[in-house]
Amino acid sequence: MNKIIIAIDGYSSCGKSTLAKQIASELNYIYIDTGAMYRAVTLFALRNNLVSKSGLDQDGLIAVLPEINVSFSYNSDSNISETHLNSENIEDEIRGIEVSSHVSKIAQVKEVRAKLVELQREIGEDKGLVMDGRDIGTVVFPNAELKIFMTADYKIRAQRRFDELKAKGDVISYEDVLNNITSRDNDDTSRSENPLIQAEDAVVIDNSQITKDEQLKIALQYVSDKITQK
Ligand code: DC
Repeated sequence: MNKIIIAIDGYSSCGKSTLAKQIASELNYIYIDTGAMYRAVTLFALRNNLVSKSGLDQDGLIAVLPEINVSFSYNSDSNISETHLNSENIEDEIRGIEVSSHVSKIAQVKEVRAKLVELQREIGEDKGLVMDGRDIGTVVFPNAELKIFMTADYKIRAQRRFDELKAKGDVISYEDVLNNITSRDNDDTSRSENPLIQAEDAVVIDNSQITKDEQLKIALQYVSDKITQK
Protein backbone atom coordinates (compact mmCIF):
# COMPACT_ATOMS: atom_id res chain seq x y z
CA MET A 1 0.00 0.00 0.00
CA ASN A 2 1.13 3.60 -0.66
CA LYS A 3 2.77 5.05 2.42
CA ILE A 4 2.31 8.73 3.08
CA ILE A 5 3.42 11.40 5.55
CA ILE A 6 0.72 12.82 7.79
CA ALA A 7 1.57 16.17 9.39
CA ILE A 8 -0.54 17.29 12.35
CA ASP A 9 -0.09 20.82 13.62
CA GLY A 10 -2.09 22.91 16.03
CA TYR A 11 -2.37 24.67 19.35
CA SER A 12 -1.14 23.32 22.69
CA SER A 13 -3.28 20.71 24.39
CA CYS A 14 -5.81 20.15 21.64
CA GLY A 15 -5.25 16.41 21.44
CA LYS A 16 -2.79 16.28 18.54
CA SER A 17 -0.81 13.44 20.03
CA THR A 18 -3.92 11.42 20.90
CA LEU A 19 -5.15 11.61 17.33
CA ALA A 20 -1.68 11.08 15.85
CA LYS A 21 -1.17 7.92 17.95
CA GLN A 22 -4.55 6.53 16.95
CA ILE A 23 -3.92 7.14 13.24
CA ALA A 24 -0.43 5.62 13.47
CA SER A 25 -1.78 2.55 15.18
CA GLU A 26 -4.60 2.11 12.61
CA LEU A 27 -2.14 2.36 9.71
CA ASN A 28 0.83 0.69 11.40
CA TYR A 29 2.84 3.88 10.89
CA ILE A 30 5.58 5.41 13.06
CA TYR A 31 4.39 8.20 15.34
CA ILE A 32 6.72 11.06 16.31
CA ASP A 33 5.84 13.70 18.89
CA THR A 34 8.08 16.66 18.02
CA GLY A 35 6.93 18.62 21.08
CA ALA A 36 8.68 15.95 23.14
CA MET A 37 11.93 16.82 21.36
CA TYR A 38 11.65 20.51 22.33
CA ARG A 39 10.73 19.39 25.84
CA ALA A 40 13.82 17.14 26.03
CA VAL A 41 16.12 20.04 25.08
CA THR A 42 14.32 22.15 27.71
CA LEU A 43 14.94 19.54 30.40
CA PHE A 44 18.63 19.49 29.45
CA ALA A 45 18.74 23.30 29.69
CA LEU A 46 16.99 23.28 33.09
CA ARG A 47 19.33 20.65 34.50
CA ASN A 48 22.35 22.63 33.32
CA ASN A 49 21.05 25.98 34.63
CA LEU A 50 20.84 27.41 31.14
CA VAL A 51 17.21 28.43 31.57
CA SER A 52 15.28 29.70 34.57
CA LYS A 53 12.49 32.13 35.39
CA SER A 54 14.92 35.00 34.87
CA GLY A 55 15.79 34.03 31.32
CA LEU A 56 17.72 31.87 28.90
CA ASP A 57 21.47 31.65 28.33
CA GLN A 58 21.06 31.30 24.59
CA ASP A 59 24.77 31.28 23.69
CA GLY A 60 25.42 28.70 26.40
CA LEU A 61 22.66 26.48 25.07
CA ILE A 62 23.86 26.77 21.46
CA ALA A 63 27.37 25.81 22.60
CA VAL A 64 26.18 22.56 24.20
CA LEU A 65 23.71 21.56 21.46
CA PRO A 66 26.10 18.93 20.02
CA GLU A 67 25.99 17.18 23.42
CA ILE A 68 22.21 16.79 23.29
CA ASN A 69 20.95 13.60 21.75
CA VAL A 70 17.19 13.07 21.55
CA SER A 71 15.79 9.72 20.49
CA PHE A 72 12.68 7.56 20.85
CA SER A 73 12.24 3.94 21.76
CA TYR A 74 9.05 1.99 21.45
CA ASN A 75 7.69 0.49 24.67
CA SER A 76 5.46 -2.41 23.70
CA ASP A 77 3.90 -2.63 27.19
CA SER A 78 2.63 0.95 27.27
CA ASN A 79 2.26 1.02 23.47
CA ILE A 80 4.03 4.37 23.26
CA SER A 81 7.25 5.66 21.84
CA GLU A 82 9.16 7.01 24.81
CA THR A 83 11.49 9.99 24.65
CA HIS A 84 15.16 9.61 25.60
CA LEU A 85 17.69 12.31 26.37
CA ASN A 86 21.25 11.01 25.98
CA SER A 87 19.93 7.46 26.51
CA GLU A 88 17.93 8.31 29.66
CA ASN A 89 14.19 7.74 29.53
CA ILE A 90 12.67 11.14 30.35
CA GLU A 91 9.13 10.53 29.10
CA ASP A 92 7.47 11.37 32.44
CA GLU A 93 9.73 14.21 33.46
CA ILE A 94 9.12 16.28 30.32
CA ARG A 95 5.33 16.39 30.77
CA GLY A 96 5.23 18.41 34.01
CA ILE A 97 4.56 22.12 34.41
CA GLU A 98 8.22 23.05 34.93
CA VAL A 99 9.28 21.94 31.46
CA SER A 100 5.98 23.27 30.03
CA SER A 101 6.61 26.72 31.41
CA HIS A 102 10.10 27.04 29.87
CA VAL A 103 9.74 25.18 26.59
CA SER A 104 8.53 28.17 24.54
CA LYS A 105 11.78 30.05 25.19
CA ILE A 106 13.79 27.07 23.98
CA ALA A 107 11.57 26.55 20.91
CA GLN A 108 12.35 30.10 19.76
CA VAL A 109 16.05 29.43 19.33
CA LYS A 110 16.88 29.12 15.63
CA GLU A 111 19.77 26.68 16.19
CA VAL A 112 17.61 24.39 18.34
CA ARG A 113 14.93 24.33 15.65
CA ALA A 114 17.47 23.65 12.88
CA LYS A 115 18.87 20.67 14.79
CA LEU A 116 15.48 19.17 15.57
CA VAL A 117 14.00 19.80 12.11
CA GLU A 118 16.95 17.95 10.56
CA LEU A 119 16.38 15.00 12.87
CA GLN A 120 12.64 15.01 12.11
CA ARG A 121 13.31 14.91 8.36
CA GLU A 122 15.70 11.98 8.77
CA ILE A 123 13.04 10.04 10.66
CA GLY A 124 10.54 10.71 7.85
CA GLU A 125 12.73 9.54 4.99
CA ASP A 126 10.89 6.26 4.55
CA LYS A 127 7.38 7.75 4.87
CA GLY A 128 4.74 5.77 6.77
CA LEU A 129 4.85 8.46 9.43
CA VAL A 130 2.51 10.55 11.54
CA MET A 131 4.28 13.54 13.07
CA ASP A 132 2.74 16.21 15.25
CA GLY A 133 3.96 19.65 16.27
CA ARG A 134 3.65 23.28 15.19
CA ASP A 135 5.61 23.52 11.94
CA ILE A 136 5.37 20.02 10.47
CA GLY A 137 3.16 20.84 7.47
CA THR A 138 4.76 24.25 6.88
CA VAL A 139 8.49 23.68 7.45
CA VAL A 140 9.48 20.08 8.22
CA PHE A 141 7.42 18.36 5.51
CA PRO A 142 5.90 21.05 3.26
CA ASN A 143 5.13 18.25 0.76
CA ALA A 144 3.36 15.98 3.25
CA GLU A 145 0.47 14.23 1.52
CA LEU A 146 -1.95 14.98 4.36
CA LYS A 147 -1.83 18.02 6.64
CA ILE A 148 -4.24 18.32 9.54
CA PHE A 149 -4.52 21.54 11.53
CA MET A 150 -6.11 20.99 14.93
CA THR A 151 -7.75 23.50 17.17
CA ALA A 152 -10.23 23.76 20.07
CA ASP A 153 -11.57 26.48 22.34
CA TYR A 154 -8.76 27.50 24.74
CA LYS A 155 -10.90 27.04 27.88
CA ILE A 156 -11.84 23.53 26.83
CA ARG A 157 -8.18 22.74 26.16
CA ALA A 158 -7.19 24.08 29.58
CA GLN A 159 -9.87 22.03 31.32
CA ARG A 160 -8.78 18.84 29.55
CA ARG A 161 -5.10 19.40 30.39
CA PHE A 162 -5.97 20.29 34.01
CA ASP A 163 -7.99 17.05 34.39
CA GLU A 164 -5.10 15.08 32.92
CA LEU A 165 -2.47 16.59 35.24
CA LYS A 166 -4.76 16.20 38.27
CA ALA A 167 -5.33 12.54 37.44
CA LYS A 168 -1.54 12.08 37.38
CA GLY A 169 -1.35 13.59 40.89
CA ASP A 170 0.14 16.98 39.93
CA VAL A 171 -0.76 19.78 42.35
CA ILE A 172 -1.73 22.65 40.11
CA SER A 173 -4.61 25.11 39.69
CA TYR A 174 -6.86 25.44 36.65
CA GLU A 175 -5.78 29.12 36.37
CA ASP A 176 -2.10 28.14 36.10
CA VAL A 177 -2.89 25.65 33.34
CA LEU A 178 -5.02 28.22 31.51
CA ASN A 179 -2.26 30.84 31.76
CA ASN A 180 0.33 28.37 30.51
CA ILE A 181 -1.82 27.48 27.50
CA THR A 182 -2.63 31.07 26.53
CA SER A 183 0.96 32.18 26.88
CA ARG A 184 2.21 29.20 24.82
CA ASP A 185 -0.42 29.95 22.13
CA ASN A 186 0.89 33.47 22.03
CA ASP A 187 4.56 32.42 21.91
CA ASP A 188 3.90 29.73 19.30
CA THR A 189 2.05 32.05 16.92
CA SER A 190 4.17 35.17 17.36
CA ARG A 191 7.76 33.84 17.30
CA SER A 192 9.85 34.75 14.27
CA GLU A 193 11.31 31.26 13.73
CA ASN A 194 8.77 28.84 12.23
CA PRO A 195 5.66 30.16 14.01
CA LEU A 196 2.50 28.10 14.23
CA ILE A 197 0.44 28.89 11.14
CA GLN A 198 -2.12 26.87 9.27
CA ALA A 199 -0.68 25.52 6.01
CA GLU A 200 -2.77 26.62 3.03
CA ASP A 201 -3.44 23.03 2.04
CA ALA A 202 -4.28 21.77 5.56
CA VAL A 203 -7.66 20.44 6.58
CA VAL A 204 -8.95 21.79 9.88
CA ILE A 205 -10.34 19.73 12.75
CA ASP A 206 -11.89 21.72 15.60
CA ASN A 207 -12.55 19.21 18.36
CA SER A 208 -14.20 21.53 20.90
CA GLN A 209 -17.53 19.77 20.50
CA ILE A 210 -16.69 16.33 19.13
CA THR A 211 -15.54 13.13 20.78
CA LYS A 212 -12.21 11.40 20.20
CA ASP A 213 -13.98 8.68 18.22
CA GLU A 214 -15.73 11.19 15.98
CA GLN A 215 -12.46 13.00 15.43
CA LEU A 216 -10.67 9.77 14.51
CA LYS A 217 -13.39 8.87 12.03
CA ILE A 218 -13.07 12.25 10.31
CA ALA A 219 -9.28 11.99 10.19
CA LEU A 220 -9.31 8.43 8.82
CA GLN A 221 -11.61 9.53 6.04
CA TYR A 222 -9.07 12.20 5.05
CA VAL A 223 -6.31 9.57 5.21
CA SER A 224 -8.15 7.11 3.03
CA ASP A 225 -8.97 9.85 0.47
CA LYS A 226 -5.28 10.77 0.26
CA ILE A 227 -4.04 7.19 0.04
CA THR A 228 -6.43 6.33 -2.78
CA GLN A 229 -5.62 9.59 -4.63
CA LYS A 230 -1.88 8.77 -4.59
O1 DC B 1 3.18 19.80 21.67
P1 DC B 1 3.80 20.20 23.01
O2 DC B 1 2.90 21.04 23.87
O3 DC B 1 4.39 19.05 23.74
O4 DC B 1 5.03 21.14 22.58
C1 DC B 1 5.87 21.73 23.52
C2 DC B 1 6.35 23.08 23.02
O5 DC B 1 7.26 22.90 21.94
C3 DC B 1 5.26 24.01 22.52
O6 DC B 1 5.03 25.04 23.44
C4 DC B 1 5.77 24.57 21.22
C5 DC B 1 7.01 23.83 20.92
N1 DC B 1 6.99 23.11 19.63
C6 DC B 1 7.42 23.77 18.53
O7 DC B 1 7.77 24.95 18.62
N2 DC B 1 7.49 23.13 17.33
C7 DC B 1 7.11 21.85 17.23
N3 DC B 1 7.18 21.23 16.04
C8 DC B 1 6.61 21.16 18.36
C9 DC B 1 6.55 21.82 19.55
